[in-house]
Formats: sequence, C-alpha cells, structure tokens
Amino acid sequence: MSARVSIVEVGPRDGLQARKEPIETAARVDLIERLRLAGVERLEVGAFVSPRRVPRMADTAAVMDAVGSGGRAGDMVLVANERGLDEALAKGARAIAVFTAASDAFAERNIGSTVAASLDRFAPIVARARAAGLFVRGYVSTVTDCPYIGRIEPAAVSAVAVALRDMGCAEIALGETLGKATPRRIAAVIETVARDVPMEAIAAHFHDTYGMGVANVWEAVRLGVRTVDAAVGGLGGCPFAPGAAGNVATEDVVYLLEEQGFKTGIVLERLLDAAASCHRRLGIAPSSRVFKALRGSGAG
Ligand code: HMG
Ligand code: MG
Repeated sequence: MSARVSIVEVGPRDGLQARKEPIETAARVDLIERLRLAGVERLEVGAFVSPRRVPRMADTAAVMDAVGSGGRAGDMVLVANERGLDEALAKGARAIAVFTAASDAFAERNIGSTVAASLDRFAPIVARARAAGLFVRGYVSTVTDCPYIGRIEPAAVSAVAVALRDMGCAEIALGETLGKATPRRIAAVIETVARDVPMEAIAAHFHDTYGMGVANVWEAVRLGVRTVDAAVGGLGGCPFAPGAAGNVATEDVVYLLEEQGFKTGIVLERLLDAAASCHRRLGIAPSSRVFKALRGSGAG
C-alpha cells in the first residue's frame, strides 16, 4: 500500500488574503467547492482576524455558511484572538489555527505582539478551543528567514513549536514565509523540531518565491513529514511579509507526490479545473509549472 500525504489546501485563505482588489464571496465559495470536487479534504476556509488589517478575510463567516463548514472536521479557520475564537465557535468550526512566528519582528508586524506575548495570548484560546472539542493547529512563521531580521536559527523555531505543542496544539505547521530557503535549511529546521515534536504532528507550509517550494516539500516528505500545505494555482502571500510570493502550488505538489508513489486523494485534472476557474473568475493566472505544462497559460 502506498503511503499517504495529507494536503492542506490554503488557497482560499493564504492564497487570497493579500490580494489588493476586492474578492466576491461567491468566487471564494466557488473555489472551495471546486477544490472539494477535486478531492481536497482539508482546507483553510478563511480567517477571523482584524478586517482592517486583512480586509479580504472579512467575509469568512459568510463563506463558512455558504460552503457548510460548520461541523466539518476538514475545514479550518485562522483565529487571531478570543474574539476570533468566539466567531469560529459561533459558526460551528471544528478546526482552528493560531499563528505566531520564530521572529519577534515578524510577529509584531503580523499580530501586534512579541512571540512570547503571543504565546501567552494563545494559551487560553487553545485551551478553550480544545475544551470545545476543536482540532487546533499552531503555526510558526519565519522558520528559516524573517523579512525584517534575516536568518532564523532552528533552535528558535523548535522553542516556539514546543510551546505551541505544550499548550495543546495537535499540529505544528512550519511556515517558510518568505519562500527563499533551500532543502538544506529546511532539513535542518525539520530535524531540529522533530527532536521535540513527533514527526506525525509536523506540517510543512512553504512559500515559493524562489521556485524552491517543490524541492522543499520533497525534502520534508523524505524526512517523514506527511502533512503538506499548498495553494491551488500557486496563489498566495502574507500581507506582512514583503517580497514573499505565493504558496507552493497544490498541482505541483500533487504531481510530485503521486509520481513519487504517494497517495494524496486529489484528482489532478479537477484541481487544474479549480485553478482555471479561479483564473477566469478572479483574473489570477496560475503560476504553477504543472498548470502551464498541462493547460497552457490560459484560463482554460
Ligand atoms: P491590533 O491591531 O493589535 O489591535 O490587532 P486590536 O486588537 O485593537 O484590533 C484592531 C482592530 O481590529 C479593531 O478595530 C478591532 O475591533 C478589530 P478598529 O477599532 O480598528 O475598527 N479586530 C477584529 N475584528 C474582527 N474580528 C477579530 C478582530 N480582532 C480585532 N477577531 C490582531 C491584533 C491580532 C487582531 C491583528 O493584528 C490581526 O488581526 N492580525 C492578523 C494578521 C493576519 O491575519 N495575517 C495573515 C495570516 S498569518 C500568515 O499568513 C502566515 C501563515 O500563512 C504561515 C506562513 O506563511 O508563515 C499562517
Ligand atoms: Mg503562509
């Protein structure tokens, strides 16, 4: 039996959060429905964060209603504070993600607090979410590089990963926010974190600015990571990480893993349909090599 890698589709959240132009709720809903048709089981529907800071996620409650997220274990939303958790619970969310970083400079710009203060803020949120039976993911951003202070040591990442795990996060997503690291540094950070956090609890969340995303995903999988984040069409970027491009494209990751003998449960052709539809409806051309190879550069 082939090994399975679980893909977490982050396009509807990470993929769209930094767009300048307004995005119709219906377009985000359509994208999510097409992703589900392609076989995506875990996806980030949106984020309950400050709409002033991230306007594109302001309609997350409406999107959750429209796609029937309430009660669905695979649908996850980002939660920035207690108020965000209240909203997630009110919508029947079964999975949330809290998010901090390995760098104070990034955390301060992203969530308005140092890493230590953010951990203090998230501890009661995670406890309350767990008590309500939710699955909780904890993100550590800037695991190799920070846009403001440069290189990050793996030990700093591990300390934050352990703190998140100790407060009750079932999964630790390692965010290579800038998308510039190569497999050597990805391996160093995964090996360091995996000394303290079980490999099964680690997820790889890589951006693709320098085109290293697929190589980095392969390195993570080679080391034993079995949960990989990706965004359809290579959408994405964080509004507080200047210079960072989209997430590694889901179609590139699916192509890589299936060709390497892993099962993802995702049907590549349908995933390409979702990327093409996103292009048609939102005018965002897929950046992925696999999309271009199989569909050309058009909206299809
Ligand atoms: P703050 O600005 O420090 O202060 O926010 P605040 O708590 O006073 O809130 C500011 C405003 O937001 C207020 O409204 C609040 O009412 C409102 P105003 O008075 O200005 O009109 N507000 C909210 N509204 C709705 N729902 C809420 C909520 N909370 C506050 N839940 C805060 C602190 C953490 C809330 C803010 O900084 C924030 O929302 N940050 C989120 C930033 C974000 O979403 N970043 C992108 C996601 S992280 C990422 O992309 C990286 C990742 O992909 C991994 C990787 O790639 O590395 C995960
Ligand atoms: Mg990200």
